[in-house]
Amino acid sequence: TLHTHVGPPGSGKGTQSPIIKDEYCLCHLATGDMLRAAVAAKTPLGVKAKEAMDKGELVSDDLVVGIIDEAMKKPSCQKGFILDGFPRTVVQAQKLDEMLKKQGAKIDKVLNFAVDDAILEERITGRWIHPSSGRSYHTKFAPPKTPGVDDVTGEPLIQRKDDTAPVLKSRLEAFHKQTEPVIGYYSQKGIVANLQAEKPPQEVTSELHKVLSS
Ligand code: AP5
Ligand code: ZN
Repeated sequence: TLHTHVGPPGSGKGTQSPIIKDEYCLCHLATGDMLRAAVAAKTPLGVKAKEAMDKGELVSDDLVVGIIDEAMKKPSCQKGFILDGFPRTVVQAQKLDEMLKKQGAKIDKVLNFAVDDAILEERITGRWIHPSSGRSYHTKFAPPKTPGVDDVTGEPLIQRKDDTAPVLKSRLEAFHKQTEPVIGYYSQKGIVANLQAEKPPQEVTSELHKVLSS
């Protein structure tokens, strides 16, 4: 199976994806996580992506489509995928459809993480992440057992460079202009499921279970 999680910054895509991934044995491909790893490693891709990411703008379609194309070839990803943060433009959605068509596959479900803009600043500015696993915490909503430390590995947590109020503003603009049309694109195909992603994390997880088992 193949799902994609679409929603504004801070809507819970990265929180829910690892839970669903483990329960359904799917491979979690998050373009944001992959790009941040490339930036940290200063690869040619990372060098090209950094400026747009720091400003809260989208990285070029060609770069991210290339990353996804490579990642989906991995043998560990044969049971299916959760795409997190991709596709984020209609062009990316069309290119993904073409890539999948060649393999005789298609997107089964698009999970739309609907959250009002007003609550996202608190979610974003309180977030702490464990970079190597992609796990997120929140100082108020999902605190780690020890402040600043990952529960599983004991490694330090960090804050993302783009998790500031001014950069969030640009990220939200990019979401409304470039990513919302992706929901329209998939709605026409009748595969969008809307999640009430403002609810507490456990309730969002149960909504996801309902959608995925239907
Ligand atoms: P990306 O990493 O994808 O960032 P994003 O879309 O802005 O989304 P976030 O990761 O901020 O939010 P999330 O929904 O995962 O929230 P989370 O679950 O952590 O992209 C970063 C950048 O990379 C982009 O700006 C762009 O430059 C580039 N990029 C990536 N993909 C691209 C693409 N396809 N094309 C072009 N460029 C691309 O939750 C947030 C916080 O809230 C956490 O602290 C969490 O603990 C808490 N929380 C979660 N759920 C709840 C809940 N239900 N109630 C209360 N708190 C909650
Ligand atoms: Zn995320």
